[in-house]
Amino acid sequence: STISVFASGTGSNFEALADAGLPIAMVVCDHADAPVVAKAQARSIATFIIDYRDYPTKAAAETAILAALPASDLIVLAGYMRIIGPTLLAAYPGQIINLHPALLPSFPGRTGIADAYAYGVKVTGVTVHVVDAGIDSGRILAQAPVRILPGESLAHLEARIHAVEHQLLPHTVAAILKEELAL
Ligand code: GRF
Repeated sequence: STISVFASGTGSNFEALADAGLPIAMVVCDHADAPVVAKAQARSIATFIIDYRDYPTKAAAETAILAALPASDLIVLAGYMRIIGPTLLAAYPGQIINLHPALLPSFPGRTGIADAYAYGVKVTGVTVHVVDAGIDSGRILAQAPVRILPGESLAHLEARIHAVEHQLLPHTVAAILKEELAL
């Protein structure tokens, strides 16, 4: 079995997946200069850089991604800052999962950690869910809590949330590939 990882930035979750020995066939990234690209190259993992501005529509961009993707059992969005469109969803029905740094359905969107922190919740966390046509809205597969400590800085909370992500995502992906967790 193989997985493809989609990422847009740092790639610490990609690294956690690779370090866990998961079978990553390709990393898809929408920014040529994103650190995740170098991280994949350093591990001799194929990369596909997609600049959506080169395409007239999202469907055209996703068609190009599909043409580049090796057949994958699972697509893992790990910090991919794009909304997945019908083209990819139709090609991988129920086979795309996403990592979100909050306890969905609370605090969806791009700033979930900061939003939870600003709201003043005592417990936030991490979610892995199936991707559907919405934003951060698919069936929840796994969650882990992260308490916000009294007086904790946002930066400190972010670091603790990422540490939990680096455990939860590889564990969840491994369970799916072992068919211990049904998508
Ligand atoms: C993670 O916090 C993920 O939950 C969010 O974007 C971040 C990606 O971090 N969607 P990295 O690129 O994996 O380090």
